[in-house]
This record gives sequence, C-alpha cells and structure tokens, in this order.
Amino acid sequence: MTRSHALAACSAALTLTLACGGSQTTSGDPDKGRQAFVDLRCNSCHEVAGESLPAPSVTPAVGLGGRSLLPPSADRLKADILLPSSHFAVGYPREQIMRGDVSRMPDYSKQLSDEQVANLVAFLKSRYERGMPSATR
Ligand code: HEC
Repeated sequence: MTRSHALAACSAALTLTLACGGSQTTSGDPDKGRQAFVDLRCNSCHEVAGESLPAPSVTPAVGLGGRSLLPPSADRLKADILLPSSHFAVGYPREQIMRGDVSRMPDYSKQLSDEQVANLVAFLKSRYERGMPSATR
C-alpha cells in the first residue's frame, strides 16, 4: 500500500468512525469483514460456506459457515478469533486442529482492531444459517 493510499484508507476509516458515533464495535460490516478475512489470510486455513475465496492451503481446511442446528453467536465467534484455545471446532481429529493443548490457529488478539474483529464477526455470522447440517465435511 502506498503512503497516499494508506492515508486515504485512514481518513475514510476515521470519517466512518465519526459518522457511526465513535467507538461502536458491536455491529460490524460483513463486506469489510470478507475483505479482512482475505487480507489477513484467514482463508489459508478456512473455507467459508457460500464464498469462493482463494482456496485454503491447509488440507483439510476447517470449514466456517453453513447450516448448523446451533449457529455460533457473535460472542462465540469473537472468542474464537481472539482466544482460539477457548473453544475448539467440533468434528476434526485433535491433531489437525491442536498442537498439544492449544489451538493451531494463530493468536490474533494483538494485531486486530475492535473494528476489524466486529467486521470479521459480522461476515462470519452472515455465513451461518440455522438448520440441519449438510454432510459437506
Ligand atoms: C494457521 C491456520 C489458521 C489461520 C490462519 C486461521 N485459523 Fe481459524 N482456526 C484454525 C484451526 C485449526 C481452528 C480449529 C481449532 C479451534 O477451534 O481453535 C480454527 C477455528 C476457527 C474458528 C472456530 C470454528 C469452529 O467451528 O468452532 C473461527 C471462527 C476461526 N477459526 C476464524 C478465523 C479467522 C477470522 C481467521 C483470520 C483472522 C483465522 N481463523 C485464521 C486455523 C486457522
């Protein structure tokens, strides 16, 4: 990113923050979340139901989104991103998703802004729907 692009992005973000009333972090923007998901390379380990993002380089990838009898809440998704070892994805062999007692997912808590987290959560939340899971895994 060039300096002027970075500046433009910052001032756009600032305008948006001001327009949205300051430090509101609860309602994110799913489109920005999708972009952040790719920019942060979340898609290198995850595929997302209904999205044709660049393919994961880890196989089998941990799938996100899709139909679930109990879709994750926004708080759960937030915890999954900020504290990966607070909860483990269901239905995968332990050695695929854990290293020892901790998640193989990197800790993003230090590098994400509240806004990025809210956007990622909004994006992922929009990809889940309640219903009988289809046998895609
Ligand atoms: C190096 C691989 C890797 C990267 C990169 C990665 N993850 Fe993960 N992620 C995992 C693994 C492995 C799991 C399953 C273990 C767990 O639940 O902690 C997981 C679990 C999750 C879950 C919970 C899934 C469930 O069914 O409970 C969410 C949500 C998630 N990741 C989001 C993200 C987001 C958002 C990013 C980018 C900011 C990201 N991940 C980047 C490997 C990764």
